[in-house]
Amino acid sequence: MSSTVRFDPVRRLKGSLTPPADKSISHRSALLGAMASEPVRVRNYLDAADTNSTLAAMAQLGALVDRHADHLVIRGTGLREAAPALGTIDVGNAGTLMRLLPGWLAAQEGRSYTLDGDASIRGRPVDRIAIPLRLMGARLEARDERFPPFAVHGTRLHGIDYTLPVASAQVKSCVLLAALMADGETIVREPEPSRDHTERMLLAAGIQVQRTDGAVRVVNQDELVLDEEIIVPADLSSAAFAIAAGILVPKSRLVLRGVNTNWTRTGFLKIAQRMGAIIVGDLEEHGAPLTAGEPTGDLDVTAGPLHGTTVESWEVPLAIDELPLVALLGCFAEGETIVRGAAELKVKESDRIQTVVDGLNGLGGQLEATDDGFVVTGTGGLRGGTIHSHGDHRLAMLGAVAGLASREGVEVVGMDAADVSYPGFAADMAGLLPS
Ligand code: S3P
Repeated sequence: MSSTVRFDPVRRLKGSLTPPADKSISHRSALLGAMASEPVRVRNYLDAADTNSTLAAMAQLGALVDRHADHLVIRGTGLREAAPALGTIDVGNAGTLMRLLPGWLAAQEGRSYTLDGDASIRGRPVDRIAIPLRLMGARLEARDERFPPFAVHGTRLHGIDYTLPVASAQVKSCVLLAALMADGETIVREPEPSRDHTERMLLAAGIQVQRTDGAVRVVNQDELVLDEEIIVPADLSSAAFAIAAGILVPKSRLVLRGVNTNWTRTGFLKIAQRMGAIIVGDLEEHGAPLTAGEPTGDLDVTAGPLHGTTVESWEVPLAIDELPLVALLGCFAEGETIVRGAAELKVKESDRIQTVVDGLNGLGGQLEATDDGFVVTGTGGLRGGTIHSHGDHRLAMLGAVAGLASREGVEVVGMDAADVSYPGFAADMAGLLPS
């Protein structure tokens, strides 16, 4: 079912907000919880479509998931004891689940699994994980060698030394999970740093994850025992929509509470600051981490005039999910905003180079797609109009924020897509309108 919602321009935004729990850390707490041999209590697990797909998959694989009013308890099967799944594992829209889970399943000797998902997932490549997993000895089958459905026939794995062709936290994490069960040692080398939640969660669990000069090294483990409790911080990628609205709607002042400030996620904040946005908060991880090695903090955002900037390749993995918002800020800025080295955007929940450029042009923006990003000519604002989410949660919320800051308002077709990561998004935005 697709819903159309209109977002009218607002005079200002004001107040404080605790955004929903981090999607990446929620996925990992469920997956590593299922792989563990002792129970883990997870507080503030994200209650959204993507992360509910992960809980359902873990239950299908034999983990016991107890839902309590304010927390979950996950009782895992152990590293090598995932149950034979009855039927296909449905990952829904969740790319992170599709990419990470095969790392665990590839080592389940004598058991076979098939993973599949929605139409968007069926168009997103899995060869990027199949290549390193096969080098570890995995037996896999993908449609056209590239796409889901993805069959994994568990077998004994061995360690590898693998250099990722493109920085990807999903691929890195998949190999690191497989490495826990693979004979010997595994080294994953990244061209640029990408989000490191898997490494932090494993380190907090006492696993010796060695990190030097862009390489991560892990050796075979007998078992995995996580911290007794994981508290999931608020998601910076979800907070980023309110932050962008706070920057763009004149006279706004917003405080975002309890947000994950892991430096591998804060690229957008640094890009926005460079464009002239006033964002105050601890972006250098000075405070003690909450759990699983993850820092949190409050962010104070004030609207202000913006100028264009250039985002280079090294910054892309640190802001990958927020690049659509960089395009939006670029529309309101003076001068040109350029994003380069971001071809990965083409294989997200939609082809985010095309959908962002077409979507914002349809609202009066001046954007041009390039092979690996886009160029935005800032005109100081956006007219408004209609934008389609294409079933992409971040595009739906991009349209909503554009509407709040536009001259004439924006109608978002397919707003329900936001439920993938941020079910209360429209209500949270409404809560920031001054009474
Ligand atoms: C994710 C990593 C990113 C990001 C995705 C979530 C993760 O993908 O776009 O939304 O949880 O590891 P890549 O690092 O593979 O680009």
